[in-house]
Amino acid sequence: MSWTTMKLLPLVCLCLLTRSGTTFADEHGSGVVRVVVKEGSDAILPCSLSTKENAEEKLFDWKKDGGKEVFFYVGGFHYNNGRPGQDQQFKGRISHFQDELKYGNASIIIRKTKVTDSGDYTCDFPLLQPRQILKIQLVVGASPEPSVKILNETKDWALLQCEVNGASPKPTVEWQDSAGNKLPAEEPQVSERGGSFYIILQTTVMKTDNYHCVATQEEIKHQIYVETYVFISEKLFEDTYSRGDVIGWFFSGFSLGALTVLVLLVATKFITVRRNKGSREQRNGYH
Ligand SMILES: *[C@@H]1O[C@H](CO)[C@@H](O)[C@H](O)[C@H]1NC(C)=O
Repeated sequence: MSWTTMKLLPLVCLCLLTRSGTTFADEHGSGVVRVVVKEGSDAILPCSLSTKENAEEKLFDWKKDGGKEVFFYVGGFHYNNGRPGQDQQFKGRISHFQDELKYGNASIIIRKTKVTDSGDYTCDFPLLQPRQILKIQLVVGASPEPSVKILNETKDWALLQCEVNGASPKPTVEWQDSAGNKLPAEEPQVSERGGSFYIILQTTVMKTDNYHCVATQEEIKHQIYVETYVFISEKLFEDTYSRGDVIGWFFSGFSLGALTVLVLLVATKFITVRRNKGSREQRNGYH
């Protein structure tokens, strides 16, 4: 292997620090609870009596969008043990938490949510004095977490790819640096299957930083991101090439910060470096 070949070895390290987060904006202000779930997962719609009093003998009624019957409970009698009237959309998919009722907790769970379950729900205790109605907004179809990988790398840049699979409604996807600045990126590749969007976005970075791939769904005020730390050892190796003495470089005063990188790289390449020293000196003769 010649020095030239060695020089082309990837000197970029993609460190494996990846983190993700989700933020929800509450556009309705206080009073409306917002629940955001991925399509197909279960959603718990929370509802508790402010007094925490026992609700086992009470009447409560969950409705969707002002009318559809979701779950009705009165003193132990409900849609899952014979009471008729539940909307077809929710048949067999709703449960309450029997053991929680004594703490005034009338939350329900919707299993295998569909995009059409999105909407405004109310949890109503109509006979209570004062009457208690809670509003819960359910959003189904939030973007799944993007996945991030390095496609290509050289000593001074890395090509990053972000992939969002099956988001609905269509999200905007962008790359950001750690300061939140949008990075120039290739035109996103967008495809649609069964109402879900698949988006791939690539960008080339040339600096060590913490990069974010951010998927935003404006309509449902939903944002999710994945964070990736990219380390590019650019400076160090430019220095190496210009100094013209590998061994000299190796033992010269490198900063403590660079030490970790050196240990990793040199450990694997030192032998090659030594073996190629001769050809490298020849190469330097051209300058
Ligand atoms: C009500 O019960 C549900 C299901 O167990 C639980 O997730 C929720 O935290 C409970 N709410 C309160 C206020 O305890």
